[in-house]
Amino acid sequence: MPPMQIFVTRKIPAPGLEILRAAKVEFQVAQEQENAGLDPAELAAGTGQSSVLLSLLTEKIDRRLLESAPRLLGVANMAVGFDNIDIDAATELGIPVSNTPGVLTESTADLTWAMLLGVARRIPQAHRYMCNGEYKLWGPNLFLGSDLGPGPDGRRKVLGIVGYGRIGAAVARRAQGFDMRVIAYDPHNSAGIAADPQVEGMGDLNEVLRAADFVSLHPLLSPETRHLISTDELRAMQPGAFLINASRGPVVDEAALLLALREGWIAGAALDVYEREPEMLAGLESLPNVLLLPHIASATWDTRGRMASMAAENALCHLRGQVAPNAVNGEVYASDAYRARQARQSS
Ligand code: GLV
Repeated sequence: MPPMQIFVTRKIPAPGLEILRAAKVEFQVAQEQENAGLDPAELAAGTGQSSVLLSLLTEKIDRRLLESAPRLLGVANMAVGFDNIDIDAATELGIPVSNTPGVLTESTADLTWAMLLGVARRIPQAHRYMCNGEYKLWGPNLFLGSDLGPGPDGRRKVLGIVGYGRIGAAVARRAQGFDMRVIAYDPHNSAGIAADPQVEGMGDLNEVLRAADFVSLHPLLSPETRHLISTDELRAMQPGAFLINASRGPVVDEAALLLALREGWIAGAALDVYEREPEMLAGLESLPNVLLLPHIASATWDTRGRMASMAAENALCHLRGQVAPNAVNGEVYASDAYRARQARQSS
């Protein structure tokens, strides 16, 4: 039986499906429901019988899964992050993997700022107060929060950006409107930081943590960045500082963060991502100084439509044996494993 052309794990936004329909390729959307994923057996069965996998960040695409899919020609992940995929295994096995960079930069930076403002000005708590009917009388001390602009002493607030790629830079750009001083640390992009007049580069993470009033995290998740922020780092932050994480949950040691928030090592945190997503550590929900979101940084109509379109275009490239413009393991195309896989498919 010839393989299914494209296995789409879950229902992606319409612009992506339109592209697949218009290309007249055979594809299957395995899960139509918004709130349900695929179990590992369903994912393995679909992947094993398909030429291309169009996946989301909710699917764990590990070595075992890839090894059990000899006819797979590519994986198109509808996300900029690809830590859900074992890239080394894919490369070894000759499978190109692509992502959706660029199109979600601005919406993610916007949400980062919404989180920053929300946690600094205690918006979730004030909203809950209104909804609970607790607002009886205006008071001069009601829901006091932290300023973003310079304080009475004229000191500009410091925004510390950790991980200075496209999203980090877009977050930095928005800080100009708040007259903030922006500092950044990214050992993989010190040149980018040095070339960017809107930001001051810092030599190490601790310098950023010690100086910042707001720390915003934007690194890729890797073994190097797992628990990048843990006890020592939280201890290094100022007691009045806020932590914002719209990158990946495991970048922050959630248990250490819970303790830091409970004990007032820092003033508050805004999280869009969690260590064991979709679960979050019990206790976070009852803290008075958090803002918690369900991984919605790129969730705008336009952005998700563009991500779906980009993933569909990447999937078509994988299917046709063309180099995908957004391949994250571009070196795979020159490998014997890739050539062998392509040859197997066409024989
Ligand atoms: C979202 O988290 C993404 O990686 O696209």
